[in-house]
Amino acid sequence: MARRESRPSGRTHRRLAPQGIAAVHEEAVLVEKMAAGGEAIARLVDGRVVFVEGALPGETVRVAITTSKRDFAKGSVTEVVEASPHRTLPPCPERVAGCGGCGWQHAAPEAQLQWKAEVVADAMRRTAKMPAADVRVGGAVGPWNYRTTMRLAVAADGRVGLRAASSHRVVALASCMVAHPALAELLPHMRVEGADEVSLRVSVATGEATVWSPSPSVRFEGLPTHVAIGPDATLVERVAGADLHVSAASFFQSGPAAAELLVDAVRRACGDVLEGLRGPLLDAYGGIGLFAATLGAADNVVVESSRSSCADAVVNLGDRATVHRTMFEQWVPQPVELAVADPARSGLGREATDVLAATGARRLVLVSCDPVSLARDTVLLAARGYRHAGSTVLDLFPHTAHVEVVTRFDRT
Ligand SMILES: C[S@@+](CC[C@H](N)C(=O)[O-])C[C@H]1O[C@@H](n2cnc3c(N)ncnc32)[C@H](O)[C@@H]1O
Repeated sequence: MARRESRPSGRTHRRLAPQGIAAVHEEAVLVEKMAAGGEAIARLVDGRVVFVEGALPGETVRVAITTSKRDFAKGSVTEVVEASPHRTLPPCPERVAGCGGCGWQHAAPEAQLQWKAEVVADAMRRTAKMPAADVRVGGAVGPWNYRTTMRLAVAADGRVGLRAASSHRVVALASCMVAHPALAELLPHMRVEGADEVSLRVSVATGEATVWSPSPSVRFEGLPTHVAIGPDATLVERVAGADLHVSAASFFQSGPAAAELLVDAVRRACGDVLEGLRGPLLDAYGGIGLFAATLGAADNVVVESSRSSCADAVVNLGDRATVHRTMFEQWVPQPVELAVADPARSGLGREATDVLAATGARRLVLVSCDPVSLARDTVLLAARGYRHAGSTVLDLFPHTAHVEVVTRFDRT
């Protein structure tokens, strides 16, 4: 559990000055809210917005301005003058040593999901021009030990870790409090040569583990024999009662708990259309077929661009799905009543929105991992006759600014 700071709100905290950064000037600001990128937003005396690293909504902080532009500024907290009741001491020694993996460890997990929902509502207000969009707080995975997949950076001496905040410097990890223990215990022993990045994954269901890197010259040392190596190394993970085959090179959510929470939110958003579904369910950007395999539709169409994920989807779904390996924008649409789409951070965009709309689906469920791309896609879908019918915000990455949103759109 996060340790709540015992210092009462209102008392001045010691200086947290960022090291080695030349500040333009310092001033005290009242923090309004969090921004989509994870910094806090406040206003300077001259009226400009300032993005502040290390501050929390409601706090008064002194901020060292490190970037000063005509319309906005950026800076870091040097002193917490009036602390948020949600402020905590980061409990992870790696975070204290500079690891940038968990930028929000100084906040209580319960508050983080609320702020994420506010960031989404704000994007809907500003970008989609929907001042009263229905944006709800959904569930969160447990705040620690949730990650079963980690993309790790490789340090010059071959140790693995994560990058320091706003830097390319690799902080080699001896432990990681958000990693599943079966993954965390591999970190201090493994050594990598010939690659800058590797992807390490463990299965909670079976205890299997895989590791791979896109670099063909990669060499691993210090791994126990149960860790399978290479893009086609596979493990089986269980989500919502389904045993899923996942290759090392395929996408998988932050862990099975996250996948289960997401499947549940998508199932609710599909609602009555899923219950009375006639014809196939479209699982667009379907990966290994997570939604097709768990939502219970007898007939599914998976559209996915990655070779490895498509191969996994074929294994996971057998004769319950047709798997199309193509960019979704180039897929020839077929009629469906219900579509789930889970694109990358950039969202659907115009072309994919056209393809989705051309299916004639009466309900679309969009899974978005970026609030602004969700708001942009909402505008594009509205222009094609799809009404925003509620967003649910999930926390699948506690202690980071990462947002996951499940949104229902109904054809008008
Ligand atoms: C966020 S993941 C979601 C995967 C799956 N729904 C899940 O939850 O496990 C996005 C997936 O879209 C795939 N992808 C990215 N761009 C694509 C595109 N333009 N067309 C089709 N698939 C794409 C990626 O390979 C990845 O598997």
